[in-house]
Amino acid sequence: MTDYANALIDNLPKAELHLHIEGTLEPEMMLELAKRNGVRLPYQNVAQVREAYQFDCLQDFLDLYYMGMSVLLHEQDFHDLTVAYLQKVALDGLTHVELFFDPQAHTDRGVSFETVLGGLVSALEQGHRELGISAKLIMCFLRHLPEEQAFDTLNTACKHKEHIYAVGLDSSEKGFPPENFSRVFAAARKAGFVAVAHAGEEGPAEYVKTSLDDLNVQRVDHGNRALDDAALTARLVREQTPLTMCPLSNLRLKGIPDLASSPVKKALDAGLLVSVNSDDPSYFGGYLNDNYRAVHQALGLHEEEIITLAKNSFASSFLEDKQKQKAMDKVDEVAKSLKANSGI
Ligand code: HPA
Ligand code: ZN
Repeated sequence: MTDYANALIDNLPKAELHLHIEGTLEPEMMLELAKRNGVRLPYQNVAQVREAYQFDCLQDFLDLYYMGMSVLLHEQDFHDLTVAYLQKVALDGLTHVELFFDPQAHTDRGVSFETVLGGLVSALEQGHRELGISAKLIMCFLRHLPEEQAFDTLNTACKHKEHIYAVGLDSSEKGFPPENFSRVFAAARKAGFVAVAHAGEEGPAEYVKTSLDDLNVQRVDHGNRALDDAALTARLVREQTPLTMCPLSNLRLKGIPDLASSPVKKALDAGLLVSVNSDDPSYFGGYLNDNYRAVHQALGLHEEEIITLAKNSFASSFLEDKQKQKAMDKVDEVAKSLKANSGI
């Protein structure tokens, strides 16, 4: 890697658009919260937790992800989790985040929606104040649970509309097509929420299509399998629908055999509006900049492509047009000064 490429990855301003806050729970914090809250875990130490992070597919990961988050009980826990993430990624040059949370994974075990939201909101306010990071919240429905429970969750979210920008769809993908949630998403959009959905991570290109047509999503999370379908790819290019890709996640969940098989370069070459994100960084071995470094090395990305990825992260965001432009201009400005300093 050239010094210039390294400097770009380390220092360019970036947005993160595909980040599950519960997936930032580091083993150290998991054990600390387990102790603080009197929750029993099948692990005695950090090494044992990390050793358990071997996944053959999305479901393997989800089983551990839902178990790990059982230590999150109080508003302070959600606050501490979110502040820890923001402090880490502030060092990665992150200036804006649109983060997912999974309320049903908490309400199902007796933790109230308000406990979760209260902790997240106070942490995001602190992150804005102290770190200059702006944020939007995306509430995901768990697609392996029934439509009725998603409706209950949406009704609760409507009481907190001022804090939640969008709705999303996550959890087990195969066998749980987007159209199962057409009515929920229609109601959410009617209530004023923007829509996004995980699609084409393990599921087929068809799920990306139905996310667009049946759920009316404005952004697709992952979207890898869309590249299997030439007509769909052409449509995504034409409509400049953002795809939030997550290279290290794909590797660890065996969606790709190696990083060289990451679709990020193919997506850039096709003219797709692709960004790089970390998904569940504690579980997948890397935060935002680790994902940039991984694709840069494995795919031999040119410096210009790193700059494009950083700009795409803002272009794909739900910031207002003026803020997007300002952030993208800042990326160019920082890149220019880094180039001058690297003597290239
Ligand atoms: N895919 C689906 N659901 C999820 C993920 C993911 O990568 N992370 C957390 N929930
Ligand atoms: Zn995800």
